[in-house]
Amino acid sequence: MVESYSKNANHNMRRPVVKEEIVELMRTRQAQNTGFLKELEDFARKENIPIIPHETTAYFRLLMQVLQPAAILEIGTAIGYSALLMAEHSPTSKITTIDRNEEMIGLAKENFAKYDRRHQIELLEGEAMDILPNLEDDSYDFVFMDSAKSKYIVFLPEVLKKVKVGGVVVLDDVFQGGDVARDIMDVRRGQRTIYRGLQRLFDATLDHPDVTASLVPMSDGLLMLRKNVETVCLDIEEN
Ligand SMILES: C[S@@+](CC[C@H](N)C(=O)[O-])C[C@H]1O[C@@H](n2cnc3c(N)ncnc32)[C@H](O)[C@@H]1O
Repeated sequence: MVESYSKNANHNMRRPVVKEEIVELMRTRQAQNTGFLKELEDFARKENIPIIPHETTAYFRLLMQVLQPAAILEIGTAIGYSALLMAEHSPTSKITTIDRNEEMIGLAKENFAKYDRRHQIELLEGEAMDILPNLEDDSYDFVFMDSAKSKYIVFLPEVLKKVKVGGVVVLDDVFQGGDVARDIMDVRRGQRTIYRGLQRLFDATLDHPDVTASLVPMSDGLLMLRKNVETVCLDIEEN
């Protein structure tokens, strides 16, 4: 029994931002996982561990097969599902993935030992903001940010230093179950720090010439960014 996630965790994942019947179609009609990815997906669902949902799995399969990124950075490993999915569909990629939760690190290590058969994945243990500055600049082709949402805006300037020009950054869960489109007074108090962090993220990126940005209404919202210049200067407003 996994202890890190309660039954009530991840409630935004259960507030779809597109019509429920379309979510259902995307989850049932797109090719299902088989083998160890299915095993990990079933385990995560049973234990309420917030891995990417099926529609994002299908999208990442395609992205990986098309982009074949040489070097991938992931912030937020959990049990290693998305890292193993990327490894499976981009067999020549080297993947660096970061997590700070000891229980998740233990499970990810077990899963990588069993299923990372081409030894593509390196797990870095600790707080992302401590680890990121030690990674090499201009070295990643693809970054998947899937950690604490309020911190995206804090991590992003450091992440963008690590990405090559032309590289892609995908940030997961940026719609907060639709809250981001509402006035802050209509958002639950406990959700307002995330709300403010996501608004700062949108202000800094959506209309900035140093990156090309696209919001994709999939799962709880993806923000995709292409790094367009060597040094990206985001205007980040302090709270
Ligand atoms: C949504 S889960 C990742 C799911 C995984 N990407 C997947 O789809 O299989 C988020 C993970 O990010 C980790 N995390 C959150 N904030 C972090 C931080 N500041 N530094 C390192 N890890 C963090 C959590 O411990 C958790 O395991």
